[in-house]
Amino acid sequence: MAPEVATRCLKADAAAIEEAARLILGGQPVAVPTETVYGLAADATNGEAVARIYQAKGRPSFNPLIVHVADLDQARELGEFADAAMALAKRHWPGPLTLVVPLKSGAPIASLVTAGLPSIGIRIPAHPVMQALLRAIGRPLAAPSANASGAISPTRAAHVLDSLGGRIPLILDGGPTERGLESTIVAATGGPLRLLRPGPITVDAVTATEDRIEAPGQLASHYAPSKPLRIDAAEAAGDEYMIGFGATPGDTNLSEKGDLTEAAARLFDLLHQADASEKPRIAVASVPREGLGLAINDRLIRAAAAR
Ligand code: TXA
Ligand code: MG
Repeated sequence: MAPEVATRCLKADAAAIEEAARLILGGQPVAVPTETVYGLAADATNGEAVARIYQAKGRPSFNPLIVHVADLDQARELGEFADAAMALAKRHWPGPLTLVVPLKSGAPIASLVTAGLPSIGIRIPAHPVMQALLRAIGRPLAAPSANASGAISPTRAAHVLDSLGGRIPLILDGGPTERGLESTIVAATGGPLRLLRPGPITVDAVTATEDRIEAPGQLASHYAPSKPLRIDAAEAAGDEYMIGFGATPGDTNLSEKGDLTEAAARLFDLLHQADASEKPRIAVASVPREGLGLAINDRLIRAAAAR
């Protein structure tokens, strides 16, 4: 369990937004109002900052997170927008619509944000506080709902404090959220548009495929390496590419100092690296099943079962 921190809750004025920007650029997650629900925002370019979102939420699995940007130019730096996606973006942004689009190659996004996928969920939020924060930071922000794992999404600063008090340094209080419901998610990754999560915006163009709704987190969407993977390995067999942890060495190491935040931040990059190696199999050292290690093991166990 992460050590307790003092959680401040500040009215979201200019000084508080500046303080939030300072903390986020320093790698900390901060709770911020959006027009849908309060989000727990971290620098999407910094894997360890994103790992701290999971640490604070106590979430036992890694899902791809939505990336929030200030404007269309910034969105275009991160994702590839085909015509249909661009039409939806122009019509509904800023607003409670998330578009899942192909990740642009070379986009400066930590692989933990997309959970290793070649696609990215992006939205431009309408809330003035989130907008001001995005502009102050000048970087994309990953932000799931600001509640502990298993709890309901927060629509007031007080809900965030109840759920995450002692686990995050700052909550920006922007009053109750307007929509109270998470954004609509539409996938535009080729083929027809698909509704991944219903929400405040109903999109005519995707109603035709609504019978094929896939539950978030269960879409064809989970990255797993293409090679057989073995977990809790003490050492590599001759045909295995070994991902070490702590004192257990390998061809590469999730974290030589045994730090779970660093390991979470590196997990998907190293799985991709192992997949691209010349060895036909992958072995991964044992990672403690506690704190962030639970989410790391969840993902490794799924990858090991994938074939
Ligand atoms: O209203 C909202 O969208 C709130 C506020 C804070 O903006 N955010 C939110 O984020 O609900 P989050 O991270 O909890 O939503 C994550 C969901 C995932 O479960 C997944 O369904 C979808 O977004 N998602 C994100 N990136 C994806 C991707 N690359 N491929 C498929 N689904 C993705
Ligand atoms: Mg949530």
